[in-house]
Amino acid sequence: MTTTTLITGGAGFIGSHLTNALLDRGERVICLDNFDSFYDPALKRSNIAQAMKNERFTLVEGDIRDRSVIDGIFKDHAVHTVVHLAARAGVRPSIVSPELYYDVNVRGTLNILEAMKQAGVRRMVFASSSSVYGNNPKVPFSETDAVDNPISPYAATKKACELLCYNYHHLYQFDIFCLRFFTVYGPRQRPEMAIHQFVRHVMEGKEITLFGDGTSRRDYTNIRDILAGILLSMEHLSGFEVLNLGEHTTISLRDLVSAIERHTGVAAKTRFLPAQPGDVEVTYADISKAQRILGYAPAVAIDDGIRDFVQWYRSGR
Ligand SMILES: NC(=O)c1ccc[n+]([C@@H]2O[C@H](COP(=O)([O-])OP(=O)(O)OC[C@H]3O[C@@H](n4cnc5c(N)ncnc54)[C@H](O)[C@@H]3O)[C@@H](O)[C@H]2O)c1
Repeated sequence: MTTTTLITGGAGFIGSHLTNALLDRGERVICLDNFDSFYDPALKRSNIAQAMKNERFTLVEGDIRDRSVIDGIFKDHAVHTVVHLAARAGVRPSIVSPELYYDVNVRGTLNILEAMKQAGVRRMVFASSSSVYGNNPKVPFSETDAVDNPISPYAATKKACELLCYNYHHLYQFDIFCLRFFTVYGPRQRPEMAIHQFVRHVMEGKEITLFGDGTSRRDYTNIRDILAGILLSMEHLSGFEVLNLGEHTTISLRDLVSAIERHTGVAAKTRFLPAQPGDVEVTYADISKAQRILGYAPAVAIDDGIRDFVQWYRSGR
């Protein structure tokens, strides 16, 4: 039987890759997305342009905070699993608009969980974030580390959502995996995120702004590995788990810029500014739990991922 997956935020960066992967497997996808203006909605429309031609794809334009929209989806479709990706993303803008982040991320998630309960749908994969670790002094970050010190409203909302997910597992026996994504990059990456923005500015001959002294380190995860992690989670979904999805390797901001220079063939014009509130010094994923539970095996080295990204960018996106 063909299964139906509801992907919230299915027109976004990660959601549209998942949409295509599930359609390619012959499955049905309902995409719930409100095309919010966090970045150009036209990019999201183009992300799902191919999917729109597929009869197994249904687009519902609506807001996760609107209960009637979600109830309508569960009434009209036999949803097997919800992959809940819709959110206000981004650390720095959450400091400017904490109420909005709370509203979309926390209230929106609660809304979906409640609608699922009522409809008897009990399988969810939830997009959490490495930002919940804050300035965790211990690396690599493990799921057993305390995450009680978020340093941005965004991180606090993701932690709150994980708690709500656990609660629905406890009270109503939902199967939920909360996946802590470590900075995801690749084709269709959100335009304000580091790799996309740097490549764009470098290729346009514009200056790039680097916060801090260039020694901060990130575990950048390629979209292909994240996609594999989500698909494995859907396959192994049982009980409640929090799982890190990263590459288990880090690169400094300076080395990242060097890699971009190498693959674009253009020297970057850089400007250094002090580190921003909400930024963390390092992210580094311990992925042993995901390896054990999912068989997750990330395979894309950052250098190859940047080469592919530049290729995608050059090809007109
Ligand atoms: N990209 C990363 O590096 C990263 C890292 C950690 C966690 N995450 C999480 O993964 C998820 C997907 O991230 P992304 O990078 O693909 O972001 P994205 O912004 O490209 O995708 C999110 C989608 O959700 C939609 N959306 C936002 N508010 C909505 C609402 N109220 N109702 C319905 N739809 C709404 C947006 O229009 C967008 O298409 C998010 O939950 C994000 O917090 C992403």
